[in-house]
Amino acid sequence: MGRSILVASGKGGSGRTTFSIAMGISLARKGYKVCLVDMNFGLRNLDIYMGLEDSVLFDIGDIMAGVCKVEKALVKDSRFPNLCLLESTQNKLIKGITEGHIRALINQLKKEFDYIVIDGPAAIDANLSLAAAGAESAVVILTPDPLALRNSDAVDRRLQACGVKSRCFVVNMVKYGLSGNDYGPSMDDFVKTFSIPMAGLIPYDENIQLGNNAGRPVCLAEDSYIAKNIDDIVLRMLG
Ligand SMILES: Nc1ncnc2c1ncn2[C@@H]1O[C@H](COP(=O)(O)OP(=O)(O)OP(=O)(O)O)[C@@H](O)[C@H]1O
Ligand SMILES: [Mg+2]
Repeated sequence: MGRSILVASGKGGSGRTTFSIAMGISLARKGYKVCLVDMNFGLRNLDIYMGLEDSVLFDIGDIMAGVCKVEKALVKDSRFPNLCLLESTQNKLIKGITEGHIRALINQLKKEFDYIVIDGPAAIDANLSLAAAGAESAVVILTPDPLALRNSDAVDRRLQACGVKSRCFVVNMVKYGLSGNDYGPSMDDFVKTFSIPMAGLIPYDENIQLGNNAGRPVCLAEDSYIAKNIDDIVLRMLG
């Protein structure tokens, strides 16, 4: 049976999609079968960052409506034969999709894949509960600012309430020399605030954004420092 990991945050634009993809690539490169699942209902962007937007024909809404089977909605990535993408609905209503439906979907994927990486919403509302329904572990992505320090704790508490037992956090977009003192919370502040472990830091790097915009995530370059950094984070998270 596969394992499912939710990527969450309290603030939009923290880097959930970037991290989900990086983690998916890292695991796929190790030979695991990976399914990236977009659960940012109505605001999806995994397909764009992966450069696969033209390949998405069906989504989770179609599966739930009985329009197609799960296998038909999976988008394969020609760069990694063992990496698939399952998109969230963009324009269709998700009304009627329950936590039970999501749990059943993830359980089905677990039979086929070693890892299911869920790109969740920036929220602590019902949408987060929906995305967390099939996840047994989660990583909270935050940026190094006081707002993230406050609302990421709220996300963690909600995840705990949702029954997600194993949780950690990653600080993204770190500008070295610009944390602590008057510039914002230090890494120590984050470690002291959260009761969950920190799995690592990701530096701010414009190449990450350029890669996403071009549909070629930077982690595709295996020997890049970013790909190695993500490999280390994934190792700390999953052992
Ligand atoms: N470490 C980084 N350095 C520089 N840019 C980054 C970094 N991580 C992510 N970005 C860029 O920041 C923006 C937000 O990242 P991303 O889309 O992954 O966040 P998100 O949490 O999924 O956002 P949303 O709430 O819109 O779904 C994107 O333009 C992305 O390319
Ligand atoms: Mg996103």
